[in-house]
Amino acid sequence: MTEYDFANLQTRWSFPTLVWFGAGRLSDLPGALAEIGGKAPLIITDRGLAASSIITGAQQTLKAAGIASGFFCEVQPNPTGENVVAGCEVLRKGGHDCVIAIGGGSAMDAAKAVAMMAGQTRPLLDFEDIGDNFRRVQTNGMLPVIALPTTAGTGSEFGRSSVITDTDSHRKVIIFHPKMLPELVILDPELTVGLPPVLTAATGMDALSHALEALCAPGWHPMADGLALTALKMIDGALASAYSEPGNLTARSNMLVASAMACTALQKGLGAVHALAHPLGARYDAHHGMLNAVLMPHVLRFNLPAVSEQMATLAHELRLKGSDPGAAVLSWLETLQARVDMPSSLSKMGVGVGETEIPGLVADALRDPCALGNPIPLNEAGVEQILRAAL
Ligand SMILES: [Fe+2]
Repeated sequence: MTEYDFANLQTRWSFPTLVWFGAGRLSDLPGALAEIGGKAPLIITDRGLAASSIITGAQQTLKAAGIASGFFCEVQPNPTGENVVAGCEVLRKGGHDCVIAIGGGSAMDAAKAVAMMAGQTRPLLDFEDIGDNFRRVQTNGMLPVIALPTTAGTGSEFGRSSVITDTDSHRKVIIFHPKMLPELVILDPELTVGLPPVLTAATGMDALSHALEALCAPGWHPMADGLALTALKMIDGALASAYSEPGNLTARSNMLVASAMACTALQKGLGAVHALAHPLGARYDAHHGMLNAVLMPHVLRFNLPAVSEQMATLAHELRLKGSDPGAAVLSWLETLQARVDMPSSLSKMGVGVGETEIPGLVADALRDPCALGNPIPLNEAGVEQILRAAL
């Protein structure tokens, strides 16, 4: 067990989200609004879901309860600052007092940023997660958010930040404030059964990467470690089933809750997987979860010398055989990746990184806040080594 200096150790943990779990709880939206004191919600989703039965179901449920709702769906797969500004316009014009975020990570991130920006006079990028920029936020104007995830992976519904693409610099910028945390999360597994298999796999791999990176991140956080380990066990048992049997509510429920736990655990830290996935996603508009699926084995291989203790625990929990826990976990990861048909390299997923683009990607990965959570301190040579292995 790692030795810490408990006489001098001080740390900060937070597990505050109210969750309503259960199949069919979309119909509890009126009660959820009453719970948070909202009367005039703006539903924010993405274009792909705009005409879905999930959105019409939400609108009809609210209408039947006498609640008028607004609607905004101009959210790109990697949401941009322009999407947030457009959402704020709709919010202000409609006089809304809260936001209902329905969708995957993109809709969730955009919705949280809109709810935060509702009360700000500064531009969005002034709140990039650098130093104490979050103290610039005028909290009294922020609106509460009810989040209903339709994917099991991003975990944005349990996070206090949004990842927004700055289209000028082609960077993914993390916007952070502690109060960006949704006030209420409705985990309704029925909302995830319509997710196509490839997105089930990619978002599930995102959840897996949150748990694995949190478990491997340095620092003393046994609560996060417990969540991460349990999430990894649940994903091991459920991801392949959710992928091959979309209507399997047991697998869908397990993935949804595992994603929630993994995202709660990632407050301990993320690492090189996310540090590299962010600039790759911003430059190539590639799916975040699929990028993580490709990067994870290469990052784990790089990190193995520093995470032998975590690998021993994880291999034991997953009941993996073999005398080398690190190798066993790596093999388990690559097997699961193949079972859900995730590509094994960036080129196979259609991300063609040119030789001249490598230095810029490495520099952007090193300045990403997630780089600080990697168990082996990252430098240019290390990040380049991982990136080249993943090409
Ligand atoms: Fe992620």
